[in-house]
Amino acid sequence: MSTSATAVDDRPAVQSGQLRLGDALSVNRLGFGAMRITGPGVWGPPADHDEAIRVLRRAVELGVNLIDTADSYGPNISEELIREALYPYPEELVLATKAGLLRTGPDEFHAFGRPDYLRQQCEMSLRRLGVERIDLFQLHRVDPTVPAADQFGVLADLQKEGKIRLVGLSEVCVDTITEAAEIVDIASVQNRYNLIDRKSDDVLRYCTERNIAFIPWAPIDAGDLAKPGGAAYEAAERLGATSAQIALAWLLQRSSRMLPIPGTSTVAHLEENCAAAPLKLDLKTVEALDEAL
Ligand SMILES: NC(=O)c1ccc[n+]([C@@H]2O[C@H](COP(=O)([O-])OP(=O)(O)OC[C@H]3O[C@@H](n4cnc5c(N)ncnc54)[C@H](OP(=O)(O)O)[C@@H]3O)[C@@H](O)[C@H]2O)c1
Repeated sequence: MSTSATAVDDRPAVQSGQLRLGDALSVNRLGFGAMRITGPGVWGPPADHDEAIRVLRRAVELGVNLIDTADSYGPNISEELIREALYPYPEELVLATKAGLLRTGPDEFHAFGRPDYLRQQCEMSLRRLGVERIDLFQLHRVDPTVPAADQFGVLADLQKEGKIRLVGLSEVCVDTITEAAEIVDIASVQNRYNLIDRKSDDVLRYCTERNIAFIPWAPIDAGDLAKPGGAAYEAAERLGATSAQIALAWLLQRSSRMLPIPGTSTVAHLEENCAAAPLKLDLKTVEALDEAL
């Protein structure tokens, strides 16, 4: 009789469950957003460089295997820190970056989708991250001043050339996803979505039906729902959790395609956020949160 037991992976992010990205990659459903490891207004270096490095390394220890970043976070700073903290990368780590936003100063950003610029930014992200191929390359915004087909077309070209593995979109409606999908396979959509902002419910439904990963940004914003009397606050009190954890657990239970990427500059908040993954909300709590808006 064999005495070997199957090891249980009890890292919290693993307990969020897994989803397939495209046809080749599998990731844990709780990821990490690396926008907050930059300076104020997503501009310049973080106030505490060493803590930013600790956050990235701890995220991987906790089972996070998708890190979301962008050329415009810093700019460049977030990608550089990811390489500094994690290179050579663990085999299972999926790096998701973006291009298509110019950042001209603190809290200033503008869509810029000229194909030659997107190509340049892809090349620069490859260099900064130190990889031969980007796992998931997301169009940060569709630039309304450039034909959309040209923007999707350059993503298709980069994929054919082996510079990017999978393609994602950000801040798009269903019509734009279907338009893009005629030109290139879409593996993920990243829209703002949380307890108090559900404008993308139709996009979430569309993605869920088609096995497209839905990556909600600003996932822990619960607004007034996190204040005394609010549904997230009440649920947190009842379950001995925090409002941020309730917000993340609610997202994870809302769709099997959901892949939240909470961002933070501190290990303490990172650990708190990852601890939300094993949290299971009962039906009554989910209903109260669903109806709270
Ligand atoms: N596609 C897009 O257009 C787009 C736009 C924005 C962001 N994103 C991506 O989405 C990720 C997440 O979005 P986000 O950073 O805006 O929103 P978020 O993850 O919902 O919130 C981050 C903010 O909440 C704080 N925080 C984190 N954990 C906390 C906790 N447990 N308790 C209390 N406060 C906590 C952080 O401050 P501390 O540093 O003090 O923890 C930070 O100010 C970003 O990192 C980025 O990768 C994408």
